[in-house]
Amino acid sequence: MVKKKVKKKKKVVDKKEIVSKKKEIKQKPIENKEDLKKSKISKADGSSKKTIDVSEIAKEIKAEQISEQRKPLENFGDDGKKVKKKISGKYILTGVPGFDDLMTKGIPKGNAMLVAGGAGSGKTIFCLQTLVNKAKEGKKCLYMSFEERESRLLSHMEEFGWNPKELIDNGNLKIQRINPFDITRNVDALLAKQKGELLIDIDPVIIPKDFKPDFIALDSLTAIASAFTGKEENYRIYIEQLFRFFEKIGATSLLITETEQIPKIFSKTGVEEFLADGVVVFYNLKHGNVRENAMEILKLRGAAHQKKIVAMQITGQGIVIYPEQEVFSDISEGS
Ligand SMILES: Nc1ncnc2c1ncn2[C@@H]1O[C@H](COP(=O)(O)OP(=O)(O)O)[C@@H](O)[C@H]1O
Ligand SMILES: [Mg+2]
Repeated sequence: MVKKKVKKKKKVVDKKEIVSKKKEIKQKPIENKEDLKKSKISKADGSSKKTIDVSEIAKEIKAEQISEQRKPLENFGDDGKKVKKKISGKYILTGVPGFDDLMTKGIPKGNAMLVAGGAGSGKTIFCLQTLVNKAKEGKKCLYMSFEERESRLLSHMEEFGWNPKELIDNGNLKIQRINPFDITRNVDALLAKQKGELLIDIDPVIIPKDFKPDFIALDSLTAIASAFTGKEENYRIYIEQLFRFFEKIGATSLLITETEQIPKIFSKTGVEEFLADGVVVFYNLKHGNVRENAMEILKLRGAAHQKKIVAMQITGQGIVIYPEQEVFSDISEGS
């Protein structure tokens, strides 16, 4: 009888220990998790041989995370159900497989979207793919590149089998290479204009003559920012003008920003993400020695969207997004 009682007490102590271990695992940075998993909890009776395998607890935590992640979508459609798309002229779809399923209706037409992410995360491909799709629909699309030469961008597109030359020849797609310093040269005039010292209109970027783009991709704001080094205040003023300009011409714009692989801020100054109507983030995640792609719509003004990080692949035909495959693998911790 007495023996039994003692046994029960031991069990309670063990449970408490397990709970605190669980907590410890959840809070630890990822690189220390493996060590933690390998560690053993001593039984309450003090015997070092009798141990509990913490990997069991880790499995339990993973299961909890999965059930949390797989909860039904919130704020996605008026009644919580995935609503059938009603495409009006007010919303646009990218045509990138899987991407449009992340939104109830699409991207509000005329929105300025930041396309943020680390190097090699798929930002350029996503923008090119969107523009190619829109150009195929007969829209006017302009890709402004500070980063890569036109020939390189063309060969990227050809590799994916998108046939860009046809779109360029029919006048729907234009690729423009710009030197960031061409931008700063224009800035003095732009600043004078802002102070009211100049009456003529100065545009922050030069759009090709007789070309009225429906879609603009700018690769990248980060390259523009680097031309303003030491003159950050001017960069801020420039960025404000740029957003205003895109709004004025009515184009839907994709503005690339190069960030950390797991970004905490999504642009150089933070002003960009404040001014933007939406932010799409691309991830290039490392698991051991394997890299995997993922993305999320972080913000989208005026439209319902999924709020999850989902799997993505860069295939031989371009980007494919898997809206049903959530990625929850320690995104805030590893790189
Ligand atoms: N034909 C292809 N097939 C599969 N993956 C590709 C192909 N071309 C490029 N990639 C992948 O896309 C990545 C580059 O994507 P990109 O959009 O240029 O990245 P960034 O975010 O730096 O602009 C490369 O690191 C490579 O992994
Ligand atoms: Mg790029």
